[in-house]
Amino acid sequence: MANQISEELIEQIRNANDIVDVIGEYVQLKKQGRNYFGLCPFHGEKSPSFSVTQEKQIFHCFGCGKGGNVVTFLMEMESFSFFEAINHLAERSSIELPSNAMKQESTLSKESQQVLSAHEWLTKLYHHLIRYTKDGKTGFEYLQDRGITIEAIDTFQLGFAPNTKDFIATFLQKKGFHEQMLVKYGLLIRSQDDTVTDRFRGRVIFPIRNHLGKTVAFGARAMEGMEPKYLNSPETDLFQKGKILYNFDLAKKHIRKQNEVVLFEGYMDVISSHQAGVPNGVATMGTALTETQAKLLRRYAETVIICYDGDNAGIEATYKASKLLLQLGCQVKIANLKNNLDPDSFIKEFGGEAFKREIIEASQTFMSFYMRYLKREYNLSLEGDRIKYLEEVLKELAKLESSVEREFYVKELSAEYNISVDSLLEEVNQYRQKSGSDKDKREKDRYTNKVKMSSGKLLPAFHNAERQLLAYMLQNRSIADKVQEEVGISFNIDDHKIIATHLYAYYEEDNPEDVSIFIDRITDEKIRKLVIELALIPTQTDISDKEINDYIQTILNESSTGVSIKQLKEEQRLAEQQQDPIKAAQIALKIIELQRQVKHLN
Ligand code: CTP
Ligand code: MN
Repeated sequence: MANQISEELIEQIRNANDIVDVIGEYVQLKKQGRNYFGLCPFHGEKSPSFSVTQEKQIFHCFGCGKGGNVVTFLMEMESFSFFEAINHLAERSSIELPSNAMKQESTLSKESQQVLSAHEWLTKLYHHLIRYTKDGKTGFEYLQDRGITIEAIDTFQLGFAPNTKDFIATFLQKKGFHEQMLVKYGLLIRSQDDTVTDRFRGRVIFPIRNHLGKTVAFGARAMEGMEPKYLNSPETDLFQKGKILYNFDLAKKHIRKQNEVVLFEGYMDVISSHQAGVPNGVATMGTALTETQAKLLRRYAETVIICYDGDNAGIEATYKASKLLLQLGCQVKIANLKNNLDPDSFIKEFGGEAFKREIIEASQTFMSFYMRYLKREYNLSLEGDRIKYLEEVLKELAKLESSVEREFYVKELSAEYNISVDSLLEEVNQYRQKSGSDKDKREKDRYTNKVKMSSGKLLPAFHNAERQLLAYMLQNRSIADKVQEEVGISFNIDDHKIIATHLYAYYEEDNPEDVSIFIDRITDEKIRKLVIELALIPTQTDISDKEINDYIQTILNESSTGVSIKQLKEEQRLAEQQQDPIKAAQIALKIIELQRQVKHLN
């Protein structure tokens, strides 16, 4: 663990990184009362049950139960080690770590670290070549020709791989990288005669960065007239096309801010749009949007604008991506590129301003797109086709949540096909009834969430009292002291007993009233989850002594009746464990006596 970094420094780093900001880089959070809510990044869900508390600097998911502080969040989210999480936070808040701390072990394998390092060197080298050398001139002129600015070349670290047999091979081998690894990750090619040569030659290089901004692969575009047009790094453990979105690392802060992301097909579209003033763009790299990618987008933004090529393949891909995104609860909009244009060629022809205003900002609703999409399949001059078409449209309309929206399209259809609004609406309503309306289901989801969140209300009084009391103890040392004196470990629920014991020890060691620090010491996952849940229970700032005393009394009353049998049994078990048969027998007698009493009472 972090043996080279002092506790104080860790504390300082933690304080410099507000949990709401850090998690906000992964999840679109909305403030609700004292907490922030969003979609849990650890399990799939449509309505938010993931909460973050700024005051306490902790997060908790009521759906899957995951919870922790800012450090455990990053460890979970990024598969970071403790040190890597601290390192990440230090970088994020520009706090310098002592240089001896940098050598801490990483969760990445040696090979992965080597691979990342080779990609980093190459990114810099290719970029240097295109910007400053004769070797890269062809590439530089090519990009200039396509209207790419120097600013964009720098931002996206674009580069050029010269048409030389072993430029890279020599460079990387001199740096001590293993040939075999470079071949495996597709940077070099092994020829028949067992020599190795550069894989990317005479091509413009697009470094493909992961969400942390580390290059994990390259896309390489041939000069005009050469084949194949694009050559990419092969899929490896570090680079999977279906999991990565090009430019996600740079776009994410804009995506969050605008609560909107623009989805493109390729590198050049992203870069040209960036130049046109659309910084929240990402791209799948020529493949269909996967569920993993869609979920990622959903977590970051409510609205996804799909901006694929205007050709047939693009329209089909748009439909598929829309379906997937809608299913996940995204708002989908479609940028309508006509005449088989792709975003990059539109910008080249009509300019960035027109692209932004007429394409992105004027993107259509999914419904408008769908009507256009469907129309291609029918011959609307035939009555039979017209009816089928309308039925399909109405079915889709029935899925819209908003009655205003439904009516809007119904009116449009009514005017276009000369059918009364009433009969169209009636049809829509029939479809809605048939499908049992998704809304009911969602409402139910929300309800179950609520029940879970306030499950305290359904619990017996003593259980509730213990939860409430622990919630106060977690944030108030003097209440904890009082409870320690008057209740000790006579909590009736075993998990509560464990938490109280930990908490007494924690305060005795003079630690601060800070749940976020407290939970770091709890290794048991189940107990930690419970602590976080308890910490999120709403409490009053000015709780009276009487209320605390009432809770304490409720707990003590319970523990002196039925439940104490349970306690005795525990003591009996301990006595047996400690090989003390006499004590065990005495306890057994007590238990029998108590059981008899209870029976009489009933
Ligand atoms: N792509 C790829 N590998 C291929 C073909 C395509 O990775 N063999 C990806 C690239 O990201 C490319 C995107 O799919 O940008 C879309 O492909 P295409 O429309 O053919 O390329 P354009 O983006 O139009 O490329 P350019 O403008 O450079 O001609
Ligand atoms: Mn193009």
